[in-house]
Amino acid sequence: MSKPPAERTEQLRADGSLRHLLTLDGLSRGMVESLLERAAHFSRPFNEPAARSTALRGTTVAIMFAEPSTRTRVSFELAALRLGADVVNIEVQLSSRRKGESVLDTVATLEAMHVDGLVLRDAEADVPDLVAAHVADHVSVFSGGAGSYSHPTQGLLDALTVLQHKGRVEGLRVAIVGDVRHSRVARSAWRAFSLLGAGEIRLLAPTALMPDTHDFAGCTRHDSLATGLTDCDVIMALRIQKERMTEADIPSEREYFAQWGLTIDRLKYARENAIVMHPQPMNRGVEIDSAVADGPQSVIRDQVRHGVAVRMAVLEQALVRQS
Ligand code: NCD
Repeated sequence: MSKPPAERTEQLRADGSLRHLLTLDGLSRGMVESLLERAAHFSRPFNEPAARSTALRGTTVAIMFAEPSTRTRVSFELAALRLGADVVNIEVQLSSRRKGESVLDTVATLEAMHVDGLVLRDAEADVPDLVAAHVADHVSVFSGGAGSYSHPTQGLLDALTVLQHKGRVEGLRVAIVGDVRHSRVARSAWRAFSLLGAGEIRLLAPTALMPDTHDFAGCTRHDSLATGLTDCDVIMALRIQKERMTEADIPSEREYFAQWGLTIDRLKYARENAIVMHPQPMNRGVEIDSAVADGPQSVIRDQVRHGVAVRMAVLEQALVRQS
């Protein structure tokens, strides 16, 4: 379930520049920092107009998501449009993939229509790598989430959110809370925060939702909010991913909230100025109480805002050579 693709596709060009973004695993700290710096340049306060450029004029980006999405899909689309690219969305449920066409045949069709960038989301962890291994030299592939394995732009937007609120990731104590086992968001956040020098990354989950011991190297593991949240600077709550579970994994929502729900009272275990994150979609009253999600320590809306900025930085970095 958290298995990485059997064959990893090279993400960098021979000159070390970014061609595809499939995972944060293996990227250098310098590469991640330069993407975040560029994303910070594109990020604007809520009350200001969005950043725009014409860097991708003449470039075509296709977005093909085989799993539901609101934020990731829309923010990739807005990012491409605000850089001046043409954008097409392929409704997988309405496309020939429903008739049994293989993903590689669909991609070959898009290539014949001069698509330069492909953004993919799939329940199978290896689909973005597989496509990246087969596309023409001028085409770049971006993962918008692959199984439980990877969600690299989410990891970057989470890092940018921490940087903008805390000024650094270095040395911070981070708690990742909830369904860590099934979460590609947690895996990419762990990569990003580790690369940027987080002091401690804690996983807080009931046994059934804790990842296997070989996974998440270097993280500490906690079986209660009371011990796990103590002195944390950053709290990342995760959605219970019922779609990736068997019935047996899931306690009732009421039981889960009683033990693991992030409430105002439980937030007090963490540092007073701790920030609260959630990738959304949220199950209010299950993994997080509305008073926390909408409260003064929540940076959840900033995560969404930074999602567009990060995706602009990534698309620009990989595709600008084509234009
Ligand atoms: C997440 C995802 O799809 O991995 N959402 C997102 O992209 N912001 C998290 C989730 O579905 O729980």
